Amino acid sequence: MTAQIIDGKAFAATVREKVAGHVARLKEEHNITPGLAVVLVGEDPASQVYVRSKGKQTVEVGMNSYEHKLDVDTSEADLLALIDQLNNDKDVHGILVQLPLPGHLNEDLVINSIDPAKDVDGFHISNVGLLGTGQKSMVPCTPLGCLMMLRDHHGSLSGMDAVVIGRSNIVGKPMAQLLLGDSCTVTIAHSRTKDLPDVVRRADIVVAAVGRPEMVPGDWIKEGATVIDVGINRIERDGKNKLVGDVDYASCAEVAGAITPVPGGVGPMTIACLLANTVTACCRANALAEPEGLTA
Ligand code: GUN
Repeated sequence: MTAQIIDGKAFAATVREKVAGHVARLKEEHNITPGLAVVLVGEDPASQVYVRSKGKQTVEVGMNSYEHKLDVDTSEADLLALIDQLNNDKDVHGILVQLPLPGHLNEDLVINSIDPAKDVDGFHISNVGLLGTGQKSMVPCTPLGCLMMLRDHHGSLSGMDAVVIGRSNIVGKPMAQLLLGDSCTVTIAHSRTKDLPDVVRRADIVVAAVGRPEMVPGDWIKEGATVIDVGINRIERDGKNKLVGDVDYASCAEVAGAITPVPGGVGPMTIACLLANTVTACCRANALAEPEGLTA
């Protein structure tokens, strides 16, 4: 079997189009423009690239983008004061603090100081709890993007065996909650899992989110399974820099029924879902109907 490629780049473009449509309607019918504030502390090069990309795409769909770039040695008190100001700013519907933060800042404290209704990352402890109990919440962007692609490909996920490899708060755990919410039988595997190849071989859906280049070979994949590769790893091969996922694409694509490529799979969906979450937050803040198909 040669796997169907799940084109995240094309899918993300359709999500952005939907978001842009809702943004236009909010302006026309309610004179409201959704606003997303992104806070970057320090000058981490990868974070700078992400933040620039987020700002650009926010403006492209017609929303307001507010960028706050703070010095690497910004104090916790100053960062919390900025978040408080954004929490109280009615033109700001979404707040994202780019991670990782410099070592002297307490990430949990900072994230939990964001108004949960504006927490478009879905990292606030209230949103984590709401998602875990199946209540309406803000959902982390990367797992939301994976779920959208899986629903689009399969229709219903009910009864499917899903294995999530990786137990991070940003991807693994919320991904498992979302799959459970769609009635999958979910296993979360990690570095201490016994017989990992056999666990993965049972899966109809494999979500790989471990951050280890090409860790999952094709002979771990059940014939016809759907493989969602969250990894974005920079490696050097044949003297060239290359981006690879957490699965070995060539061998997995020979057995899988469908697979996301790297780049062009999950990556573009993450920012598209951030924009979707910002529109959702804006609608909720104004007691307006939420956009359909853009939430979990
Ligand atoms: N750093 C890497 N990924 C993310 C993300 O999804 N959100 C935030 N805030 N920071 C990140």
